[in-house]
Amino acid sequence: MDKLIITGGASLNGEIRISGSKNSALPVLAATLLCDEKMRVCNLPHLQDITTMIELLGQMGVDLIIDDKLNLEVEANTIKELHAPYELVKTMRASILVLGPMLAHFGEAHVSLPGGCAIGSRPVDLHIHGLRAMGADIEVENGYIHASVKGRLRGARIVLETVTVTGTENLMMAAALAEGQTILENAAREPEVVDLAECLNRMGADVKGAGTDTIVINGRDRLHGCDYNVIPDRIETGTYLVAGAISRGKVKLKQTRPDILDAVLLKLEEAGAHIATGDDWVELDMKGNRPRSVNVRTAPYPAFPTDMQAQFTALNAVAEGTGTIIETVFENRFMHVSELNRMGAQISLEGNTAIIKGVEQLTGAPVMATDLRASAGLVLAGLVANGDTLVDRIYHIDRGYECIEEKLQMLGATIHRIPS
Ligand code: EPU
Repeated sequence: MDKLIITGGASLNGEIRISGSKNSALPVLAATLLCDEKMRVCNLPHLQDITTMIELLGQMGVDLIIDDKLNLEVEANTIKELHAPYELVKTMRASILVLGPMLAHFGEAHVSLPGGCAIGSRPVDLHIHGLRAMGADIEVENGYIHASVKGRLRGARIVLETVTVTGTENLMMAAALAEGQTILENAAREPEVVDLAECLNRMGADVKGAGTDTIVINGRDRLHGCDYNVIPDRIETGTYLVAGAISRGKVKLKQTRPDILDAVLLKLEEAGAHIATGDDWVELDMKGNRPRSVNVRTAPYPAFPTDMQAQFTALNAVAEGTGTIIETVFENRFMHVSELNRMGAQISLEGNTAIIKGVEQLTGAPVMATDLRASAGLVLAGLVANGDTLVDRIYHIDRGYECIEEKLQMLGATIHRIPS
């Protein structure tokens, strides 16, 4: 297994380009299954999760052409197997996103239930409940979701009990080819949901209200192909901004969207950062100062994203003062805390709250990555720790951060990959 070794101490300075959004690309790739024609998806990030989704489509027999820039041409009508196997779904929970489109377009889908997850139990009951409300016949047997429908799915009013991002996306995709109108209440408002709606509308769907908590979809008989560019990754952007803040540096991130990062930018300013933005760039300057502690409470968009929680835990670990972080989205997303404490952080956990007393200096240590964003938190801590930090199990990082060591090196960090 590859490892990352980071020698802390450099103040990060410079400019880098942000990649396409993983969490937009995954539903958009699943949406290609709705289409009767060739569809082209661009600005895909080079990430393990994207490879897994492409592999999943390929295993189903879907014709795929990938060019050297990772632009992907998909022709869903060539599908041979309406089946997402456990071997792939267990490596990436977002595989569940093929359920809605496959069922809506081909009338049948057999998708493995995603298993346990390091950050929480993460059930998919709301996806299943919503599809049943649209007339699907669904049985869960031997670890698989077997779904079928006679004729087309029917539009329905679905009130989602909890705000769920992939749940909203799955149902929105299914509704795009259903007969009649679907209304999704208490829908997720994440920018990735809006991006998917934009893509569906370009394919000829009729989706209104994405970005609000009520999405109305008027189902169409068929969808056509289009070229679609996924949005920039807001979590990658936020992570590099924290890299600048934690190292008291100055970083400029290009080809990104500061308008979908309000809650994160607000907290960075509270931590003492000077932020400047343009349409497609954001710059953070700490003017050499130590960050101040901030209090954070994660919640669905537009509130502070759970996917930035570990990075702010690392920031608070070296900040001036004491900050609290409340995690409300996932029940077990503090696995990085014990690793940060091994680096000299002073963090105590009380239920879903981390109380973080900032220390002057962390010390490098061997640490273990447990999930994608926890790993990012450990890398950030390593950037400012005294000495070397060796981050093990970085396959988690490779699922969500394109070329992380090259990008950090470009900003002046001392970080190297040690191949296994
Ligand atoms: N939930 C249910 N039942 C369901 C679905 C969700 O109880 O049927 C609960 C979950 O257990 C959780 C809450 O609802 O407590 C929210 O989960 P959600 O469904 O919104 O999460 P997700 O769609 O599985 C996406 C992102 C995650 C991100 C969350 C929250 C993708 C592919 N994944 O997951 O991204 O943390 O939304 O914003 O979009 C990451 O990129 O590192 C990552 C984990």
